[in-house]
Amino acid sequence: MKIEGKEFRTIWFDEENKVVKIIDQTKLPHQFVIKDLKTVKDAINAIKVMEVRGAPLIGGTAAYGMVLAILENNDLEFIKKSAEELIKSRPTAINLEWAVHRMNNKLSMINSNDLFSVALKEAKEICDEDVKFCENIGLNGLKLIEDIYIKKKDTVNILTHCNAGWLATINWGTATSPIYHAHKKGIPIHVWVDETRPRNQGANLTSYELNEEQIPNTIIADNTGGILMQRGEVDMCIVGTDRTLSNGDVCNKIGTYLKALAAYDNNVPFYVALPSSTIDWDTKNSKDIPIEERNSDELSYIEGIDNKNQIKKVLIYPNKSKAINLAFDVTPAKYVTSLITEKGICDASSEALKNLFNKN
Ligand code: MRU
Repeated sequence: MKIEGKEFRTIWFDEENKVVKIIDQTKLPHQFVIKDLKTVKDAINAIKVMEVRGAPLIGGTAAYGMVLAILENNDLEFIKKSAEELIKSRPTAINLEWAVHRMNNKLSMINSNDLFSVALKEAKEICDEDVKFCENIGLNGLKLIEDIYIKKKDTVNILTHCNAGWLATINWGTATSPIYHAHKKGIPIHVWVDETRPRNQGANLTSYELNEEQIPNTIIADNTGGILMQRGEVDMCIVGTDRTLSNGDVCNKIGTYLKALAAYDNNVPFYVALPSSTIDWDTKNSKDIPIEERNSDELSYIEGIDNKNQIKKVLIYPNKSKAINLAFDVTPAKYVTSLITEKGICDASSEALKNLFNKN
Protein backbone atom coordinates (compact mmCIF):
# COMPACT_ATOMS: atom_id res chain seq x y z
CA MET A 1 0.00 0.00 0.00
CA LYS A 2 1.04 3.63 -0.23
CA ILE A 3 2.97 6.04 1.94
CA GLU A 4 3.14 9.54 0.46
CA GLY A 5 1.93 8.07 -2.83
CA LYS A 6 4.73 5.47 -3.03
CA GLU A 7 4.02 1.71 -2.88
CA PHE A 8 5.69 -0.19 -0.05
CA ARG A 9 5.67 -3.60 1.54
CA THR A 10 6.48 -3.81 5.26
CA ILE A 11 9.54 -6.06 4.77
CA TRP A 12 11.82 -6.99 1.90
CA PHE A 13 15.29 -8.39 1.21
CA ASP A 14 17.98 -6.13 -0.21
CA GLU A 15 19.90 -8.57 -2.47
CA GLU A 16 22.81 -6.21 -3.07
CA ASN A 17 23.62 -5.52 0.58
CA LYS A 18 22.28 -8.84 1.93
CA VAL A 19 20.16 -7.13 4.59
CA VAL A 20 16.47 -7.24 5.46
CA LYS A 21 14.67 -3.91 5.22
CA ILE A 22 11.77 -3.03 7.49
CA ILE A 23 9.68 0.04 8.19
CA ASP A 24 10.44 0.86 11.86
CA GLN A 25 6.91 0.99 13.28
CA THR A 26 8.04 2.37 16.66
CA LYS A 27 8.68 5.69 14.87
CA LEU A 28 5.29 5.93 13.12
CA PRO A 29 3.29 8.09 12.60
CA HIS A 30 5.77 10.89 13.30
CA GLN A 31 8.81 9.62 11.41
CA PHE A 32 9.05 7.26 8.44
CA VAL A 33 12.28 5.31 8.92
CA ILE A 34 13.46 2.29 6.93
CA LYS A 35 15.78 0.15 9.01
CA ASP A 36 18.29 -2.57 8.08
CA LEU A 37 18.28 -5.91 9.92
CA LYS A 38 21.74 -7.41 9.46
CA THR A 39 21.79 -10.31 11.92
CA VAL A 40 19.34 -12.77 13.41
CA LYS A 41 19.73 -10.84 16.69
CA ASP A 42 18.50 -7.72 14.87
CA ALA A 43 15.43 -9.65 13.70
CA ILE A 44 14.73 -10.99 17.21
CA ASN A 45 15.11 -7.52 18.68
CA ALA A 46 12.86 -5.95 16.00
CA ILE A 47 10.10 -8.41 16.95
CA LYS A 48 10.60 -7.94 20.72
CA VAL A 49 10.59 -4.13 20.72
CA MET A 50 7.84 -4.10 18.08
CA GLU A 51 9.68 -2.32 15.28
CA VAL A 52 7.71 -4.96 13.40
CA ARG A 53 4.47 -6.29 14.84
CA GLY A 54 1.19 -7.85 13.79
CA ALA A 55 0.92 -11.64 13.47
CA PRO A 56 1.66 -12.12 9.74
CA LEU A 57 4.51 -9.59 9.73
CA ILE A 58 6.10 -11.20 12.78
CA GLY A 59 5.97 -14.49 10.84
CA GLY A 60 7.59 -12.89 7.79
CA THR A 61 10.31 -11.31 9.95
CA ALA A 62 11.04 -14.64 11.65
CA ALA A 63 11.40 -16.28 8.22
CA TYR A 64 13.88 -13.60 7.12
CA GLY A 65 15.55 -13.90 10.55
CA MET A 66 16.40 -17.50 9.60
CA VAL A 67 17.93 -16.22 6.34
CA LEU A 68 20.07 -13.77 8.33
CA ALA A 69 21.16 -16.56 10.70
CA ILE A 70 22.34 -18.66 7.74
CA LEU A 71 24.20 -15.67 6.28
CA GLU A 72 26.04 -15.21 9.58
CA ASN A 73 26.93 -18.81 10.21
CA ASN A 74 25.59 -21.87 8.40
CA ASP A 75 26.52 -24.23 11.20
CA LEU A 76 23.42 -26.34 11.95
CA GLU A 77 23.68 -25.84 15.72
CA PHE A 78 23.67 -22.04 15.28
CA ILE A 79 20.68 -22.22 12.91
CA LYS A 80 18.78 -24.44 15.36
CA LYS A 81 19.51 -22.08 18.29
CA SER A 82 18.49 -19.07 16.18
CA ALA A 83 15.18 -20.76 15.30
CA GLU A 84 14.48 -21.35 19.00
CA GLU A 85 15.33 -17.75 19.91
CA LEU A 86 13.10 -16.43 17.12
CA ILE A 87 10.15 -18.51 18.33
CA LYS A 88 10.61 -17.16 21.87
CA SER A 89 10.74 -13.51 20.80
CA ARG A 90 6.95 -13.03 21.22
CA PRO A 91 4.61 -15.72 22.53
CA THR A 92 1.06 -15.11 21.34
CA ALA A 93 0.99 -14.82 17.55
CA ILE A 94 1.09 -18.37 16.17
CA ASN A 95 2.49 -17.12 12.83
CA LEU A 96 5.89 -16.82 14.44
CA GLU A 97 6.40 -20.51 15.18
CA TRP A 98 4.44 -21.46 12.05
CA ALA A 99 6.95 -19.55 9.87
CA VAL A 100 10.02 -20.88 11.69
CA HIS A 101 8.74 -24.48 11.48
CA ARG A 102 8.04 -24.03 7.78
CA MET A 103 11.59 -22.73 7.24
CA ASN A 104 13.07 -25.60 9.30
CA ASN A 105 11.10 -28.21 7.34
CA LYS A 106 12.34 -26.81 4.06
CA LEU A 107 15.94 -26.58 5.26
CA SER A 108 15.97 -30.09 6.69
CA MET A 109 15.52 -31.51 3.20
CA ILE A 110 18.54 -29.95 1.51
CA ASN A 111 22.30 -29.97 1.17
CA SER A 112 24.18 -27.46 3.36
CA ASN A 113 25.66 -25.64 0.30
CA ASP A 114 22.16 -24.57 -0.73
CA LEU A 115 20.96 -23.37 2.68
CA PHE A 116 21.05 -19.65 1.92
CA SER A 117 19.37 -19.74 -1.50
CA VAL A 118 16.67 -22.16 -0.34
CA ALA A 119 16.01 -20.16 2.85
CA LEU A 120 15.76 -16.89 0.94
CA LYS A 121 13.35 -18.41 -1.59
CA GLU A 122 11.16 -19.83 1.18
CA ALA A 123 11.11 -16.56 3.17
CA LYS A 124 10.08 -14.71 0.02
CA GLU A 125 7.39 -17.31 -0.64
CA ILE A 126 6.02 -16.96 2.90
CA CYS A 127 5.73 -13.21 2.35
CA ASP A 128 4.31 -13.43 -1.19
CA GLU A 129 1.77 -15.99 -0.02
CA ASP A 130 0.71 -13.67 2.80
CA VAL A 131 0.14 -10.87 0.29
CA LYS A 132 -2.03 -13.16 -1.87
CA PHE A 133 -3.96 -14.47 1.16
CA CYS A 134 -4.60 -10.96 2.49
CA GLU A 135 -5.75 -9.83 -0.95
CA ASN A 136 -8.22 -12.74 -1.05
CA ILE A 137 -9.42 -11.92 2.49
CA GLY A 138 -10.19 -8.48 1.09
CA LEU A 139 -12.11 -9.82 -1.91
CA ASN A 140 -14.12 -12.17 0.33
CA GLY A 141 -14.82 -9.50 2.97
CA LEU A 142 -15.77 -6.96 0.31
CA LYS A 143 -19.04 -8.86 -0.25
CA LEU A 144 -20.04 -8.26 3.40
CA ILE A 145 -19.44 -4.52 3.07
CA GLU A 146 -21.22 -4.42 -0.30
CA ASP A 147 -24.30 -6.13 1.22
CA ILE A 148 -24.54 -3.49 3.93
CA TYR A 149 -24.07 -0.70 1.38
CA ILE A 150 -26.79 -2.10 -0.91
CA LYS A 151 -29.27 -2.11 2.00
CA LYS A 152 -28.18 1.15 3.61
CA LYS A 153 -27.38 3.19 0.47
CA ASP A 154 -25.14 5.36 2.61
CA THR A 155 -21.64 5.40 4.09
CA VAL A 156 -20.71 2.11 5.76
CA ASN A 157 -19.29 2.68 9.26
CA ILE A 158 -16.77 0.03 10.27
CA LEU A 159 -15.12 -0.25 13.68
CA THR A 160 -11.69 -1.82 14.01
CA HIS A 161 -9.36 -2.49 16.94
CA CYS A 162 -5.55 -2.32 17.08
CA ASN A 163 -3.76 -2.41 13.73
CA ALA A 164 -4.70 -5.34 11.54
CA GLY A 165 -3.82 -3.21 8.55
CA TRP A 166 -1.16 -3.62 5.89
CA LEU A 167 1.47 -2.57 8.43
CA ALA A 168 0.63 -5.70 10.46
CA THR A 169 1.04 -7.97 7.43
CA ILE A 170 3.26 -7.83 4.34
CA ASN A 171 0.64 -5.89 2.36
CA TRP A 172 -3.15 -5.25 2.29
CA GLY A 173 -3.75 -6.18 5.95
CA THR A 174 -6.39 -8.58 7.19
CA ALA A 175 -9.16 -6.46 8.78
CA THR A 176 -8.35 -3.53 6.49
CA SER A 177 -8.14 -5.51 3.25
CA PRO A 178 -11.96 -5.61 2.74
CA ILE A 179 -11.97 -1.88 3.55
CA TYR A 180 -9.30 -1.12 0.91
CA HIS A 181 -11.14 -3.23 -1.65
CA ALA A 182 -14.48 -1.55 -0.90
CA HIS A 183 -12.85 1.89 -1.16
CA LYS A 184 -11.29 0.99 -4.52
CA LYS A 185 -14.77 -0.08 -5.70
CA GLY A 186 -16.19 3.32 -4.79
CA ILE A 187 -18.23 2.23 -1.75
CA PRO A 188 -18.29 5.11 0.76
CA ILE A 189 -16.60 3.95 3.95
CA HIS A 190 -15.84 5.52 7.28
CA VAL A 191 -13.70 3.73 9.86
CA TRP A 192 -13.94 4.11 13.64
CA VAL A 193 -10.39 3.48 14.78
CA ASP A 194 -9.98 2.28 18.39
CA GLU A 195 -6.98 4.11 19.80
CA THR A 196 -5.81 0.76 21.33
CA ARG A 197 -4.02 1.58 24.55
CA PRO A 198 -1.38 1.12 25.71
CA ARG A 199 0.72 1.22 22.52
CA ASN A 200 -1.88 3.03 20.44
CA GLN A 201 -1.54 0.87 17.34
CA GLY A 202 -4.97 2.08 16.20
CA ALA A 203 -4.16 5.76 16.48
CA ASN A 204 -0.52 5.51 15.41
CA LEU A 205 -0.75 2.93 12.66
CA THR A 206 -4.32 2.19 11.48
CA SER A 207 -5.36 5.82 11.23
CA TYR A 208 -2.01 6.67 9.61
CA GLU A 209 -2.30 4.02 6.93
CA LEU A 210 -5.96 4.83 6.21
CA ASN A 211 -5.04 8.52 5.86
CA GLU A 212 -2.35 7.60 3.34
CA GLU A 213 -5.00 5.76 1.28
CA GLN A 214 -7.50 8.66 1.67
CA ILE A 215 -10.01 6.58 3.63
CA PRO A 216 -12.10 8.68 6.05
CA ASN A 217 -11.51 7.60 9.63
CA THR A 218 -11.98 8.85 13.17
CA ILE A 219 -9.88 7.83 16.18
CA ILE A 220 -11.91 6.99 19.27
CA ALA A 221 -10.87 6.21 22.83
CA ASP A 222 -11.10 2.48 23.45
CA ASN A 223 -14.22 2.85 25.58
CA THR A 224 -16.22 4.75 22.94
CA GLY A 225 -17.25 1.86 20.67
CA GLY A 226 -20.09 0.80 22.97
CA ILE A 227 -22.00 4.06 22.85
CA LEU A 228 -21.46 4.35 19.09
CA MET A 229 -23.01 0.90 18.68
CA GLN A 230 -25.96 1.85 20.93
CA ARG A 231 -26.50 4.90 18.74
CA GLY A 232 -26.53 2.81 15.55
CA GLU A 233 -23.34 4.42 14.30
CA VAL A 234 -21.44 1.19 13.71
CA ASP A 235 -22.59 -1.06 10.83
CA MET A 236 -20.00 -3.77 11.40
CA CYS A 237 -16.79 -4.54 13.28
CA ILE A 238 -13.79 -6.15 11.60
CA VAL A 239 -10.73 -7.09 13.64
CA GLY A 240 -7.65 -9.24 13.11
CA THR A 241 -6.29 -12.08 15.23
CA ASP A 242 -2.97 -13.40 16.52
CA ARG A 243 -4.20 -16.92 17.00
CA THR A 244 -7.54 -18.51 16.16
CA LEU A 245 -8.28 -21.91 17.64
CA SER A 246 -9.90 -24.63 15.55
CA ASN A 247 -13.10 -24.14 17.63
CA GLY A 248 -13.30 -20.51 16.43
CA ASP A 249 -12.12 -18.78 19.62
CA VAL A 250 -10.14 -15.70 18.66
CA CYS A 251 -7.12 -14.32 20.50
CA ASN A 252 -6.40 -10.71 19.55
CA LYS A 253 -5.20 -7.40 21.00
CA ILE A 254 -6.41 -6.67 24.52
CA GLY A 255 -9.85 -5.06 24.41
CA THR A 256 -11.14 -7.05 21.42
CA TYR A 257 -13.31 -9.18 23.74
CA LEU A 258 -15.07 -6.13 25.23
CA LYS A 259 -15.79 -4.82 21.75
CA ALA A 260 -17.25 -8.19 20.74
CA LEU A 261 -19.52 -8.14 23.82
CA ALA A 262 -20.77 -4.68 22.95
CA ALA A 263 -21.33 -5.73 19.33
CA TYR A 264 -23.27 -8.83 20.46
CA ASP A 265 -25.49 -6.76 22.76
CA ASN A 266 -26.25 -4.31 19.94
CA ASN A 267 -26.71 -6.79 17.06
CA VAL A 268 -23.71 -5.39 15.25
CA PRO A 269 -21.96 -8.07 13.17
CA PHE A 270 -18.48 -8.84 14.50
CA TYR A 271 -16.09 -10.26 11.89
CA VAL A 272 -12.56 -11.56 12.35
CA ALA A 273 -10.25 -11.54 9.33
CA LEU A 274 -7.34 -13.98 9.17
CA PRO A 275 -5.00 -15.88 6.89
CA SER A 276 -4.78 -19.63 7.56
CA SER A 277 -1.26 -19.13 8.97
CA THR A 278 -3.00 -17.68 12.06
CA ILE A 279 -5.01 -20.82 12.80
CA ASP A 280 -3.74 -22.94 15.70
CA TRP A 281 -5.08 -26.42 14.87
CA ASP A 282 -3.46 -28.03 17.93
CA THR A 283 -4.41 -25.99 21.01
CA LYS A 284 -7.85 -27.11 22.10
CA ASN A 285 -8.54 -24.79 25.04
CA SER A 286 -8.16 -21.01 24.89
CA LYS A 287 -6.82 -21.08 28.47
CA ASP A 288 -3.69 -22.70 27.02
CA ILE A 289 -2.92 -19.77 24.69
CA PRO A 290 0.19 -17.98 25.97
CA ILE A 291 -0.92 -14.42 26.65
CA GLU A 292 1.96 -11.98 26.38
CA GLU A 293 2.53 -9.73 29.37
CA ARG A 294 4.61 -6.71 28.39
CA ASN A 295 6.47 -4.17 30.49
CA SER A 296 4.08 -1.94 32.44
CA ASP A 297 6.12 1.10 31.29
CA GLU A 298 4.09 0.84 28.08
CA LEU A 299 1.11 1.92 30.20
CA SER A 300 2.72 4.44 32.50
CA TYR A 301 4.73 6.31 29.85
CA ILE A 302 3.29 7.89 26.75
CA GLU A 303 5.17 8.94 23.63
CA GLY A 304 4.61 11.77 21.20
CA ILE A 305 6.39 14.63 19.47
CA ASP A 306 7.20 17.96 21.06
CA ASN A 307 7.09 21.35 19.31
CA LYS A 308 10.62 20.74 17.96
CA ASN A 309 9.45 17.55 16.22
CA GLN A 310 11.43 15.41 18.66
CA ILE A 311 9.90 12.14 19.89
CA LYS A 312 9.49 12.40 23.71
CA LYS A 313 8.32 9.98 26.39
CA VAL A 314 6.51 11.24 29.48
CA LEU A 315 5.28 9.57 32.67
CA ILE A 316 1.50 9.80 33.08
CA TYR A 317 0.87 7.59 36.15
CA PRO A 318 1.58 8.27 39.81
CA ASN A 319 5.17 7.28 40.49
CA LYS A 320 4.23 4.73 43.13
CA SER A 321 1.35 3.02 41.25
CA LYS A 322 1.55 -0.53 39.98
CA ALA A 323 0.22 -1.41 36.51
CA ILE A 324 -0.24 -4.64 34.57
CA ASN A 325 0.08 -4.90 30.81
CA LEU A 326 -1.64 -7.96 29.33
CA ALA A 327 -1.32 -7.62 25.57
CA PHE A 328 -4.05 -9.96 24.30
CA ASP A 329 -7.43 -11.42 25.21
CA VAL A 330 -9.67 -14.16 23.88
CA THR A 331 -13.07 -13.62 22.29
CA PRO A 332 -15.13 -16.81 22.52
CA ALA A 333 -16.42 -18.09 19.18
CA LYS A 334 -20.06 -17.45 20.18
CA TYR A 335 -19.48 -13.69 19.85
CA VAL A 336 -17.90 -13.93 16.39
CA THR A 337 -20.39 -13.56 13.52
CA SER A 338 -18.02 -15.08 10.94
CA LEU A 339 -14.38 -15.57 10.09
CA ILE A 340 -13.12 -14.01 6.86
CA THR A 341 -10.27 -16.10 5.42
CA GLU A 342 -8.40 -16.37 2.14
CA LYS A 343 -10.56 -19.39 1.27
CA GLY A 344 -13.91 -17.77 2.03
CA ILE A 345 -16.18 -16.77 4.90
CA CYS A 346 -17.19 -19.33 7.52
CA ASP A 347 -18.76 -19.67 10.96
CA ALA A 348 -16.43 -19.52 13.93
CA SER A 349 -16.80 -23.25 14.64
CA SER A 350 -14.69 -26.42 14.33
CA GLU A 351 -16.99 -27.88 11.73
CA ALA A 352 -16.97 -24.83 9.48
CA LEU A 353 -13.21 -24.28 9.77
CA LYS A 354 -12.42 -27.93 9.10
CA ASN A 355 -14.71 -27.96 6.05
CA LEU A 356 -13.20 -24.81 4.62
CA PHE A 357 -9.61 -26.01 5.08
CA ASN A 358 -10.24 -29.71 4.34
CA LYS A 359 -9.02 -30.89 7.73
CA ASN A 360 -10.12 -34.17 9.29
O1 MRU B 1 0.87 -6.33 19.64
P1 MRU B 1 0.65 -6.24 18.16
O2 MRU B 1 0.66 -4.85 17.64
O3 MRU B 1 1.59 -7.16 17.42
O4 MRU B 1 -0.81 -6.82 17.98
C1 MRU B 1 -1.37 -6.89 16.70
C2 MRU B 1 -2.76 -7.38 16.71
O5 MRU B 1 -3.34 -7.65 17.72
C3 MRU B 1 -3.41 -7.60 15.37
O6 MRU B 1 -4.80 -7.41 15.47
C4 MRU B 1 -3.15 -9.04 14.91
O7 MRU B 1 -1.78 -9.33 14.94
C5 MRU B 1 -3.69 -9.30 13.57
S1 MRU B 1 -2.64 -8.59 12.36
C6 MRU B 1 -3.28 -8.75 10.83
